[in-house]
Amino acid sequence: RPFAYSGKDSILCCDGVQLDRLAKKFGTPLYVYSAEQIAGRLKLFQESFAEIPHLICYAVKANSALAILKLLDAQGAGFDIVSGGELERVLAVNRAAAARVVFSGVGKTAAEMDAALRAGILLFNVESEGELELLAERASKQRKRARVSLRVNPDVFAETHPYISTGLREHKFGIDIRRARRVYREAAKAKYLDARGVSVHIGSQIRSAEPFGAAAERVAGLIRDLRRDGHTIEFLDAGGGLGIEYHLSLSGDDASGAHSFDPKEKVTQYAAAVKKAVEGVSDVTLLLEPGRFLVAQAGALVTRVLYVKKNGEKVFVIADAAMNDLIRPALYQAHHEIVPVTRTKSKKRVVADFVGPVCESGDFFARDREMPALKSGDLAVILDAGAYGMPLSSNYNSRPRPAEVLIERGRARLIRRRETMQDLLAPETL
Ligand code: LLP
Repeated sequence: RPFAYSGKDSILCCDGVQLDRLAKKFGTPLYVYSAEQIAGRLKLFQESFAEIPHLICYAVKANSALAILKLLDAQGAGFDIVSGGELERVLAVNRAAAARVVFSGVGKTAAEMDAALRAGILLFNVESEGELELLAERASKQRKRARVSLRVNPDVFAETHPYISTGLREHKFGIDIRRARRVYREAAKAKYLDARGVSVHIGSQIRSAEPFGAAAERVAGLIRDLRRDGHTIEFLDAGGGLGIEYHLSLSGDDASGAHSFDPKEKVTQYAAAVKKAVEGVSDVTLLLEPGRFLVAQAGALVTRVLYVKKNGEKVFVIADAAMNDLIRPALYQAHHEIVPVTRTKSKKRVVADFVGPVCESGDFFARDREMPALKSGDLAVILDAGAYGMPLSSNYNSRPRPAEVLIERGRARLIRRRETMQDLLAPETL
Protein backbone atom coordinates (compact mmCIF):
# COMPACT_ATOMS: atom_id res chain seq x y z
CA ARG A 1 0.00 0.00 0.00
CA PRO A 2 1.31 3.48 -0.83
CA PHE A 3 -0.27 4.93 2.32
CA ALA A 4 1.74 4.44 5.50
CA TYR A 5 2.61 6.27 8.70
CA SER A 6 6.13 7.54 9.08
CA GLY A 7 8.34 9.82 11.15
CA LYS A 8 8.37 10.52 14.86
CA ASP A 9 5.06 12.36 14.70
CA SER A 10 3.53 9.40 12.90
CA ILE A 11 2.14 11.32 9.96
CA LEU A 12 0.31 9.47 7.20
CA CYS A 13 2.19 9.65 3.91
CA CYS A 14 1.59 8.67 0.31
CA ASP A 15 4.83 7.30 -1.13
CA GLY A 16 6.74 9.31 1.45
CA VAL A 17 4.87 12.59 0.96
CA GLN A 18 3.14 13.83 4.12
CA LEU A 19 -0.59 14.23 3.68
CA ASP A 20 -0.86 17.11 6.17
CA ARG A 21 1.47 19.13 3.95
CA LEU A 22 -0.61 18.36 0.90
CA ALA A 23 -3.79 19.37 2.73
CA LYS A 24 -2.17 22.65 3.71
CA LYS A 25 -0.93 23.37 0.21
CA PHE A 26 -3.90 22.21 -1.87
CA GLY A 27 -6.78 22.38 0.63
CA THR A 28 -9.37 19.71 1.45
CA PRO A 29 -11.21 17.63 0.39
CA LEU A 30 -8.34 16.39 -1.74
CA TYR A 31 -7.83 13.23 -3.78
CA VAL A 32 -4.28 11.85 -3.62
CA TYR A 33 -3.02 9.08 -5.90
CA SER A 34 0.18 7.05 -6.09
CA ALA A 35 1.56 6.83 -9.63
CA GLU A 36 3.86 4.06 -8.54
CA GLN A 37 1.06 1.80 -7.37
CA ILE A 38 -1.03 2.34 -10.51
CA ALA A 39 1.94 1.54 -12.73
CA GLY A 40 2.78 -1.46 -10.54
CA ARG A 41 -0.73 -2.87 -10.74
CA LEU A 42 -0.78 -2.59 -14.53
CA LYS A 43 2.56 -4.37 -14.65
CA LEU A 44 1.22 -7.15 -12.43
CA PHE A 45 -1.66 -7.64 -14.84
CA GLN A 46 0.57 -7.55 -17.91
CA GLU A 47 2.99 -10.06 -16.39
CA SER A 48 0.22 -12.45 -15.39
CA PHE A 49 -0.82 -12.77 -19.03
CA ALA A 50 2.67 -12.43 -20.53
CA GLU A 51 2.77 -15.82 -22.21
CA ILE A 52 -0.32 -15.27 -24.37
CA PRO A 53 -1.20 -12.48 -26.81
CA HIS A 54 -3.14 -9.91 -24.79
CA LEU A 55 -3.95 -6.24 -24.33
CA ILE A 56 -4.97 -4.70 -21.02
CA CYS A 57 -7.63 -2.09 -21.80
CA TYR A 58 -7.96 -0.01 -18.65
CA ALA A 59 -11.62 0.83 -17.89
CA VAL A 60 -11.44 4.62 -18.08
CA LYS A 61 -14.62 5.05 -16.03
CA ALA A 62 -12.83 3.89 -12.87
CA ASN A 63 -10.69 7.01 -12.86
CA SER A 64 -10.51 9.18 -15.94
CA ALA A 65 -7.92 11.74 -14.80
CA LEU A 66 -5.81 12.66 -17.83
CA ALA A 67 -2.56 12.28 -15.88
CA ILE A 68 -3.52 8.74 -14.89
CA LEU A 69 -4.49 7.83 -18.46
CA LYS A 70 -1.16 9.26 -19.58
CA LEU A 71 0.87 7.12 -17.25
CA LEU A 72 -1.04 3.98 -18.27
CA ASP A 73 -0.68 4.85 -21.96
CA ALA A 74 3.08 5.22 -21.50
CA GLN A 75 3.16 1.63 -20.23
CA GLY A 76 1.34 0.32 -23.27
CA ALA A 77 -2.15 -0.03 -21.83
CA GLY A 78 -5.18 0.10 -24.05
CA PHE A 79 -8.45 1.65 -22.92
CA ASP A 80 -12.04 0.53 -22.45
CA ILE A 81 -14.31 3.54 -23.00
CA VAL A 82 -18.07 3.95 -22.66
CA SER A 83 -18.73 7.41 -24.10
CA GLY A 84 -17.58 10.07 -26.52
CA GLY A 85 -16.26 11.96 -23.52
CA GLU A 86 -13.99 9.11 -22.49
CA LEU A 87 -12.80 8.81 -26.10
CA GLU A 88 -11.96 12.52 -26.05
CA ARG A 89 -9.89 12.02 -22.89
CA VAL A 90 -7.89 9.16 -24.41
CA LEU A 91 -7.29 11.11 -27.62
CA ALA A 92 -6.17 14.15 -25.60
CA VAL A 93 -3.51 11.97 -24.00
CA ASN A 94 -2.34 10.28 -27.21
CA ARG A 95 -4.16 10.23 -30.55
CA ALA A 96 -2.33 7.05 -31.50
CA ALA A 97 -3.81 5.25 -28.48
CA ALA A 98 -7.09 5.00 -30.45
CA ALA A 99 -5.68 1.81 -31.97
CA ARG A 100 -5.84 0.31 -28.45
CA VAL A 101 -9.39 1.42 -27.61
CA VAL A 102 -12.43 -0.79 -27.15
CA PHE A 103 -15.81 0.93 -26.91
CA SER A 104 -18.36 -0.64 -24.52
CA GLY A 105 -21.80 0.49 -23.38
CA VAL A 106 -25.46 -0.23 -24.14
CA GLY A 107 -26.37 3.20 -25.47
CA LYS A 108 -23.83 4.45 -27.99
CA THR A 109 -25.17 7.35 -30.05
CA ALA A 110 -24.57 7.98 -33.75
CA ALA A 111 -22.30 10.92 -32.89
CA GLU A 112 -20.23 8.76 -30.54
CA MET A 113 -19.91 6.04 -33.19
CA ASP A 114 -18.85 8.65 -35.77
CA ALA A 115 -16.14 9.99 -33.48
CA ALA A 116 -14.84 6.52 -32.67
CA LEU A 117 -14.80 5.51 -36.35
CA ARG A 118 -12.95 8.69 -37.26
CA ALA A 119 -10.39 8.02 -34.53
CA GLY A 120 -9.94 4.45 -35.77
CA ILE A 121 -10.56 2.52 -32.57
CA LEU A 122 -9.70 -1.16 -32.25
CA LEU A 123 -13.13 -2.61 -31.50
CA PHE A 124 -16.76 -1.74 -30.84
CA ASN A 125 -18.27 -3.97 -28.14
CA VAL A 126 -21.81 -4.04 -29.54
CA GLU A 127 -24.59 -4.79 -27.07
CA SER A 128 -27.74 -5.05 -29.20
CA GLU A 129 -29.02 -5.72 -32.69
CA GLY A 130 -30.26 -2.14 -32.96
CA GLU A 131 -26.79 -0.87 -32.20
CA LEU A 132 -25.31 -3.21 -34.79
CA GLU A 133 -27.66 -1.79 -37.42
CA LEU A 134 -26.82 1.81 -36.57
CA LEU A 135 -23.08 1.08 -36.53
CA ALA A 136 -23.33 -0.54 -39.99
CA GLU A 137 -25.03 2.61 -41.27
CA ARG A 138 -22.54 5.06 -39.70
CA ALA A 139 -19.57 2.99 -40.93
CA SER A 140 -20.87 2.88 -44.47
CA LYS A 141 -21.42 6.66 -44.40
CA GLN A 142 -17.73 7.12 -43.57
CA ARG A 143 -16.74 4.23 -45.86
CA LYS A 144 -14.72 2.86 -42.98
CA ARG A 145 -14.95 -0.68 -41.73
CA ALA A 146 -15.93 -1.00 -38.08
CA ARG A 147 -14.31 -3.86 -36.17
CA VAL A 148 -16.99 -5.39 -34.02
CA SER A 149 -17.17 -7.68 -31.04
CA LEU A 150 -20.54 -8.74 -29.67
CA ARG A 151 -20.89 -8.41 -25.95
CA VAL A 152 -22.75 -11.49 -24.91
CA ASN A 153 -24.64 -11.99 -21.72
CA PRO A 154 -23.38 -15.35 -20.44
CA ASP A 155 -25.99 -15.77 -17.69
CA VAL A 156 -23.31 -16.30 -15.06
CA PHE A 157 -23.95 -15.26 -11.49
CA ALA A 158 -21.22 -13.40 -9.64
CA GLU A 159 -21.45 -12.43 -6.01
CA THR A 160 -21.33 -8.63 -5.70
CA HIS A 161 -23.59 -5.65 -5.02
CA PRO A 162 -26.74 -5.88 -7.21
CA TYR A 163 -26.05 -2.44 -8.73
CA ILE A 164 -22.75 -3.60 -10.19
CA SER A 165 -23.65 -7.14 -11.22
CA THR A 166 -24.17 -7.40 -14.99
CA GLY A 167 -23.84 -10.96 -16.22
CA LEU A 168 -27.37 -12.29 -15.76
CA ARG A 169 -30.12 -12.39 -18.37
CA GLU A 170 -32.21 -10.05 -16.23
CA HIS A 171 -29.57 -7.29 -16.64
CA LYS A 172 -29.63 -4.76 -19.44
CA PHE A 173 -26.14 -5.71 -20.65
CA GLY A 174 -25.10 -7.70 -23.68
CA ILE A 175 -26.88 -9.95 -26.14
CA ASP A 176 -28.27 -13.26 -24.92
CA ILE A 177 -25.52 -15.78 -25.64
CA ARG A 178 -28.12 -18.15 -27.12
CA ARG A 179 -28.92 -15.59 -29.86
CA ALA A 180 -25.31 -14.70 -30.59
CA ARG A 181 -24.74 -16.94 -33.64
CA ARG A 182 -27.78 -15.51 -35.35
CA VAL A 183 -26.58 -11.96 -34.72
CA TYR A 184 -23.09 -12.72 -36.07
CA ARG A 185 -24.71 -14.08 -39.21
CA GLU A 186 -26.48 -10.73 -39.66
CA ALA A 187 -23.29 -8.81 -38.93
CA ALA A 188 -21.41 -10.78 -41.57
CA LYS A 189 -23.83 -9.50 -44.22
CA ALA A 190 -22.97 -5.86 -43.59
CA LYS A 191 -20.26 -4.59 -45.93
CA TYR A 192 -18.72 -2.21 -43.44
CA LEU A 193 -18.80 -4.42 -40.37
CA ASP A 194 -15.95 -6.76 -39.47
CA ALA A 195 -17.05 -9.19 -36.76
CA ARG A 196 -13.77 -9.94 -35.04
CA GLY A 197 -14.44 -10.75 -31.41
CA VAL A 198 -16.66 -11.81 -28.57
CA SER A 199 -16.75 -9.92 -25.30
CA VAL A 200 -18.21 -10.45 -21.89
CA HIS A 201 -18.33 -8.55 -18.59
CA ILE A 202 -20.08 -10.10 -15.62
CA GLY A 203 -19.87 -7.32 -13.06
CA SER A 204 -17.58 -5.41 -10.78
CA GLN A 205 -15.91 -5.95 -7.37
CA ILE A 206 -15.99 -9.72 -7.82
CA ARG A 207 -13.56 -11.34 -5.42
CA SER A 208 -13.44 -14.93 -6.58
CA ALA A 209 -11.83 -16.10 -9.81
CA GLU A 210 -14.37 -18.83 -10.46
CA PRO A 211 -17.17 -16.83 -12.19
CA PHE A 212 -14.60 -15.19 -14.50
CA GLY A 213 -13.46 -18.63 -15.56
CA ALA A 214 -17.05 -19.78 -16.10
CA ALA A 215 -17.90 -16.74 -18.25
CA ALA A 216 -14.70 -17.00 -20.32
CA GLU A 217 -15.42 -20.71 -20.77
CA ARG A 218 -18.82 -19.91 -22.31
CA VAL A 219 -17.32 -17.28 -24.56
CA ALA A 220 -14.59 -19.67 -25.68
CA GLY A 221 -17.28 -22.20 -26.59
CA LEU A 222 -19.12 -19.59 -28.61
CA ILE A 223 -15.92 -18.62 -30.43
CA ARG A 224 -15.41 -22.24 -31.48
CA ASP A 225 -18.99 -22.34 -32.82
CA LEU A 226 -18.57 -19.03 -34.64
CA ARG A 227 -15.38 -20.19 -36.29
CA ARG A 228 -17.16 -23.31 -37.48
CA ASP A 229 -19.83 -20.99 -38.90
CA GLY A 230 -17.06 -19.34 -40.91
CA HIS A 231 -16.41 -16.16 -38.93
CA THR A 232 -12.88 -14.89 -38.34
CA ILE A 233 -12.77 -14.30 -34.61
CA GLU A 234 -9.50 -12.85 -33.34
CA PHE A 235 -10.41 -11.35 -29.99
CA LEU A 236 -11.76 -12.70 -26.73
CA ASP A 237 -12.59 -9.78 -24.43
CA ALA A 238 -13.00 -11.07 -20.87
CA GLY A 239 -14.10 -7.69 -19.47
CA GLY A 240 -13.14 -6.28 -16.10
CA GLY A 241 -14.46 -6.76 -12.62
CA LEU A 242 -11.65 -8.15 -10.46
CA GLY A 243 -12.33 -6.91 -6.93
CA ILE A 244 -10.15 -5.62 -4.12
CA GLU A 245 -10.43 -5.86 -0.33
CA TYR A 246 -11.90 -2.72 1.24
CA HIS A 247 -11.64 -3.98 4.84
CA LEU A 248 -7.94 -3.45 5.36
CA SER A 249 -6.36 -1.24 7.96
CA LEU A 250 -2.98 0.26 7.18
CA SER A 251 -0.88 -2.69 8.27
CA GLY A 252 -2.35 -4.60 5.32
CA ASP A 253 -4.64 -6.70 7.50
CA ASP A 254 -7.85 -5.79 9.23
CA ALA A 255 -7.94 -5.59 13.02
CA SER A 256 -9.90 -8.83 13.41
CA GLY A 257 -7.58 -10.66 11.04
CA ALA A 258 -10.54 -11.80 8.96
CA HIS A 259 -9.35 -10.06 5.80
CA SER A 260 -6.06 -9.85 4.01
CA PHE A 261 -5.13 -9.03 0.46
CA ASP A 262 -2.27 -10.03 -1.75
CA PRO A 263 -2.71 -8.37 -5.15
CA LYS A 264 -0.22 -10.63 -6.86
CA GLU A 265 -1.96 -13.75 -5.63
CA LYS A 266 -5.34 -12.31 -6.70
CA VAL A 267 -4.28 -11.55 -10.27
CA THR A 268 -2.49 -14.86 -10.54
CA GLN A 269 -5.64 -16.81 -9.57
CA TYR A 270 -7.76 -14.64 -11.85
CA ALA A 271 -5.34 -15.03 -14.76
CA ALA A 272 -5.20 -18.80 -14.25
CA ALA A 273 -9.00 -19.08 -14.48
CA VAL A 274 -9.22 -16.92 -17.60
CA LYS A 275 -6.22 -18.50 -19.32
CA LYS A 276 -7.60 -21.99 -18.72
CA ALA A 277 -10.72 -21.04 -20.69
CA VAL A 278 -8.72 -19.40 -23.43
CA GLU A 279 -6.49 -22.46 -23.88
CA GLY A 280 -9.42 -24.07 -25.66
CA VAL A 281 -9.28 -21.58 -28.54
CA SER A 282 -6.24 -21.17 -30.76
CA ASP A 283 -4.90 -17.89 -32.17
CA VAL A 284 -6.93 -15.54 -30.09
CA THR A 285 -5.86 -12.24 -28.57
CA LEU A 286 -7.16 -11.80 -25.06
CA LEU A 287 -8.50 -8.39 -24.11
CA LEU A 288 -9.06 -7.46 -20.47
CA GLU A 289 -10.78 -4.40 -19.04
CA PRO A 290 -9.69 -3.95 -15.41
CA GLY A 291 -10.56 -0.68 -13.72
CA ARG A 292 -10.86 -0.85 -9.96
CA PHE A 293 -8.00 -3.30 -9.48
CA LEU A 294 -5.51 -0.89 -11.04
CA VAL A 295 -6.48 2.33 -9.28
CA ALA A 296 -8.68 1.81 -6.20
CA GLN A 297 -6.00 1.21 -3.59
CA ALA A 298 -3.68 3.80 -5.12
CA GLY A 299 -6.00 6.63 -4.10
CA ALA A 300 -7.42 8.24 -0.98
CA LEU A 301 -9.60 11.18 -0.12
CA VAL A 302 -8.13 13.57 2.44
CA THR A 303 -10.68 15.49 4.46
CA ARG A 304 -10.72 17.85 7.43
CA VAL A 305 -13.03 17.44 10.41
CA LEU A 306 -15.28 20.47 10.76
CA TYR A 307 -17.26 19.56 13.87
CA VAL A 308 -17.85 16.73 16.27
CA LYS A 309 -21.31 16.64 17.79
CA LYS A 310 -23.53 14.42 19.84
CA ASN A 311 -27.23 13.79 19.18
CA GLY A 312 -28.47 11.79 22.12
CA GLU A 313 -26.25 8.74 22.27
CA LYS A 314 -24.87 9.13 18.78
CA VAL A 315 -21.59 10.83 17.94
CA PHE A 316 -21.24 12.49 14.54
CA VAL A 317 -17.89 13.43 13.05
CA ILE A 318 -18.71 16.01 10.38
CA ALA A 319 -16.03 16.29 7.70
CA ASP A 320 -15.60 18.67 4.77
CA ALA A 321 -15.85 15.82 2.23
CA ALA A 322 -19.32 14.60 1.32
CA MET A 323 -21.30 12.19 -0.83
CA ASN A 324 -20.88 14.51 -3.81
CA ASP A 325 -17.09 13.88 -3.60
CA LEU A 326 -17.29 10.11 -2.99
CA ILE A 327 -20.69 8.49 -3.40
CA ARG A 328 -19.78 4.81 -2.94
CA PRO A 329 -20.93 4.48 0.70
CA ALA A 330 -24.24 6.22 -0.04
CA LEU A 331 -24.90 4.37 -3.29
CA TYR A 332 -23.69 0.84 -2.56
CA GLN A 333 -23.35 0.81 1.23
CA ALA A 334 -19.67 0.43 0.38
CA HIS A 335 -17.13 0.15 3.17
CA HIS A 336 -14.08 2.43 3.20
CA GLU A 337 -11.50 2.47 5.98
CA ILE A 338 -11.06 5.88 7.57
CA VAL A 339 -7.84 6.76 9.38
CA PRO A 340 -6.44 9.90 11.01
CA VAL A 341 -3.53 11.69 9.29
CA THR A 342 -1.75 12.11 12.62
CA ARG A 343 -1.60 9.04 14.80
CA THR A 344 -2.07 10.32 18.33
CA LYS A 345 -0.54 8.79 21.44
CA SER A 346 -3.96 8.67 23.05
CA LYS A 347 -5.66 5.33 22.61
CA LYS A 348 -9.07 6.93 22.98
CA ARG A 349 -11.59 5.44 20.60
CA VAL A 350 -15.24 6.28 19.93
CA VAL A 351 -18.12 4.78 18.04
CA ALA A 352 -19.29 7.43 15.60
CA ASP A 353 -20.89 8.20 12.26
CA PHE A 354 -18.42 9.86 9.89
CA VAL A 355 -20.53 12.17 7.71
CA GLY A 356 -20.37 15.06 5.25
CA PRO A 357 -22.12 18.44 5.10
CA VAL A 358 -24.68 17.51 2.41
CA CYS A 359 -28.33 17.73 3.40
CA GLU A 360 -29.19 14.05 3.11
CA SER A 361 -29.11 11.33 5.74
CA GLY A 362 -27.44 9.14 3.12
CA ASP A 363 -24.42 11.44 3.21
CA PHE A 364 -22.16 9.23 5.31
CA PHE A 365 -18.78 7.55 4.93
CA ALA A 366 -19.14 5.27 7.96
CA ARG A 367 -21.93 4.42 10.38
CA ASP A 368 -21.56 3.31 13.99
CA ARG A 369 -17.89 2.73 13.32
CA GLU A 370 -15.32 2.43 16.06
CA MET A 371 -12.54 4.92 15.29
CA PRO A 372 -9.88 7.01 17.01
CA ALA A 373 -11.41 10.08 18.67
CA LEU A 374 -11.14 12.99 16.24
CA LYS A 375 -11.67 16.67 16.94
CA SER A 376 -12.46 19.74 14.90
CA GLY A 377 -9.51 20.66 12.63
CA ASP A 378 -8.07 17.13 12.50
CA LEU A 379 -7.32 15.56 9.14
CA ALA A 380 -8.65 12.14 8.22
CA VAL A 381 -8.23 9.96 5.17
CA ILE A 382 -10.80 7.80 3.43
CA LEU A 383 -8.81 4.94 1.96
CA ASP A 384 -9.20 2.97 -1.28
CA ALA A 385 -10.93 5.85 -3.02
CA GLY A 386 -8.90 5.79 -6.24
CA ALA A 387 -11.61 4.01 -8.26
CA TYR A 388 -15.13 5.36 -8.83
CA GLY A 389 -14.45 8.30 -6.52
CA MET A 390 -13.79 11.47 -8.49
CA PRO A 391 -15.49 10.19 -11.71
CA LEU A 392 -18.77 9.77 -9.81
CA SER A 393 -18.48 13.14 -8.09
CA SER A 394 -21.05 15.85 -8.63
CA ASN A 395 -21.77 19.45 -7.73
CA TYR A 396 -24.74 18.53 -5.54
CA ASN A 397 -25.48 21.19 -2.93
CA SER A 398 -23.47 23.46 -5.27
CA ARG A 399 -20.23 22.14 -3.90
CA PRO A 400 -17.17 22.62 -6.11
CA ARG A 401 -15.40 19.34 -6.88
CA PRO A 402 -12.14 18.58 -5.02
CA ALA A 403 -8.62 18.93 -6.37
CA GLU A 404 -6.52 15.90 -7.35
CA VAL A 405 -2.83 15.33 -6.70
CA LEU A 406 -0.59 12.63 -8.16
CA ILE A 407 2.52 11.49 -6.28
CA GLU A 408 5.33 10.65 -8.68
CA ARG A 409 8.85 9.72 -7.54
CA GLY A 410 8.29 11.35 -4.16
CA ARG A 411 6.86 14.57 -5.60
CA ALA A 412 3.30 15.84 -5.52
CA ARG A 413 1.82 17.24 -8.71
CA LEU A 414 -1.57 18.95 -8.95
CA ILE A 415 -3.31 17.12 -11.81
CA ARG A 416 -6.68 18.82 -11.42
CA ARG A 417 -7.22 22.11 -9.65
CA ARG A 418 -10.05 22.56 -7.22
CA GLU A 419 -13.21 23.86 -8.89
CA THR A 420 -14.06 27.48 -8.20
CA MET A 421 -17.37 29.25 -7.66
CA GLN A 422 -16.92 30.65 -11.16
CA ASP A 423 -16.67 27.12 -12.58
CA LEU A 424 -19.95 26.29 -10.86
CA LEU A 425 -21.89 29.13 -12.45
CA ALA A 426 -20.14 29.19 -15.83
CA PRO A 427 -22.61 27.10 -17.92
CA GLU A 428 -25.68 29.06 -16.75
CA THR A 429 -27.46 32.28 -17.69
CA LEU A 430 -29.58 34.49 -15.50
N1 LLP B 1 -15.75 -3.30 -18.54
C1 LLP B 1 -17.06 -2.97 -18.53
C2 LLP B 1 -17.87 -3.24 -19.71
C3 LLP B 1 -17.62 -2.40 -17.37
O1 LLP B 1 -18.93 -2.10 -17.36
C4 LLP B 1 -16.82 -2.15 -16.23
C5 LLP B 1 -17.37 -1.53 -15.02
C6 LLP B 1 -15.45 -2.48 -16.30
C7 LLP B 1 -14.96 -3.06 -17.47
C8 LLP B 1 -14.51 -2.25 -15.16
O2 LLP B 1 -14.85 -2.97 -14.05
P1 LLP B 1 -13.87 -3.02 -12.78
O3 LLP B 1 -12.63 -3.76 -13.20
O4 LLP B 1 -13.54 -1.62 -12.41
O5 LLP B 1 -14.64 -3.72 -11.76
N2 LLP B 1 -19.29 2.51 -9.55
C9 LLP B 1 -19.20 1.13 -9.08
C10 LLP B 1 -18.58 0.22 -10.13
C11 LLP B 1 -19.27 0.26 -11.46
C12 LLP B 1 -18.64 -0.65 -12.48
C13 LLP B 1 -19.19 -0.42 -13.84
N3 LLP B 1 -18.59 -1.18 -14.90
C14 LLP B 1 -18.45 1.10 -7.76
O6 LLP B 1 -18.04 2.16 -7.28
O7 LLP B 1 -18.28 0.03 -7.17
